[in-house]
Amino acid sequence: MGINIKGLGTYVPEQKLTNDDFTKFVETNDEWIRTRTGIVERHMAGWEPTWYMGTQAALKAIENAGISPSDIGLVISSTVTSDFLTPSMASVIQYKTGAVNAAAFDLNAACTGFIYAVDTARRFLATDDDMKYVLVVANESLSRFVDFKDRASCILFGDGAAAAVIEKSDKLYASHLASDGSGAGYLCARSLNVAPEVKTEKDFDDGFTDNPIHKLYQNGKEVYKFATNVLPKSFEIISEKINITKDDIDWFIPHQANVRIIETAAKKLGVSMDKFIVTLDHYGNTSSASIPLALCEGVEKGIIKRGQKLALIGFGAGLTYGGIVLEY
Ligand code: UT7
Repeated sequence: MGINIKGLGTYVPEQKLTNDDFTKFVETNDEWIRTRTGIVERHMAGWEPTWYMGTQAALKAIENAGISPSDIGLVISSTVTSDFLTPSMASVIQYKTGAVNAAAFDLNAACTGFIYAVDTARRFLATDDDMKYVLVVANESLSRFVDFKDRASCILFGDGAAAAVIEKSDKLYASHLASDGSGAGYLCARSLNVAPEVKTEKDFDDGFTDNPIHKLYQNGKEVYKFATNVLPKSFEIISEKINITKDDIDWFIPHQANVRIIETAAKKLGVSMDKFIVTLDHYGNTSSASIPLALCEGVEKGIIKRGQKLALIGFGAGLTYGGIVLEY
């Protein structure tokens, strides 16, 4: 069973940070950021909580799908930046959107979160005859836990949300989900501050960075190597499953972390960059929101059309990775 993406919606906060803005608090410059990452500017949530951005994107997706919120059977929110440890963002969005008949839960697969959430949605739709629509919302406020003293990571991230209303269909669909937890320490942030004096028991050492503060830590070089490896790998695994080739794909929509990662993956796959949707120049890396933001932008610009075959591929903390090939 495949899926149909019936509606899409996005929301990004108004406030923006340009590359030049970062020169006020770290030693950097526009040229370094542009050439090493491809990023020019990114949106920053000011007063907007994560759930608010997710709700705005969700309301637009529901309107775009032309459905009643009461027909939604499940809300899945993908986020690494929940406003609360509990309740879930999904429960808040379920209430705020009027999805009164929906179950709700959050899913954290970091930047691969949209891929995981859509694939989970498909499995619910496939096994529950009564479920008509699943609302998938990817909402992220990375600015809340980025370390603005770390010039190698703070310049990468942005905030935003995107949502999709998904229904059953018999269109082409194949997926691949994976995780390599051995690299978990390369990209991590603690959920709660651990007082250093409590951290004496060696048995409890998780092998992650010693930094006890809940700010994002990234080993950029290791994540870069991982990303350029798994982007083509994930596509190759899916294409073998359903016996298609890169030439059958109209648009590749990768996680938007660094344009050099996308260029290297394109080269490895032997696919022209013209077939890749790239939006990171104006959004930065918005974690799990990056793929649906790019998808939505492609659709709104009329570049991505109904009936075309798309390859969505993500990677991120975990280290998670995975992809979906589907007909839009
Ligand atoms: O969704 C999560 C996935 N995350 C990613 O995909 C991130 C993957 N990694 C990357 O994209 C890249 O590794 C970075 C963009 C994070 C870094 O790029 P790089 O080409 O690997 O740079 P580097 O770490 O090798 O640093 C090169 C130099 C260093 O200076 P020295 O030691 O050569 O003197 C850094 O200190 O660039 C310096 N540097 C900067 N200079 C100006 C690092 N950050 C900055 C900066 N401005 N913002």
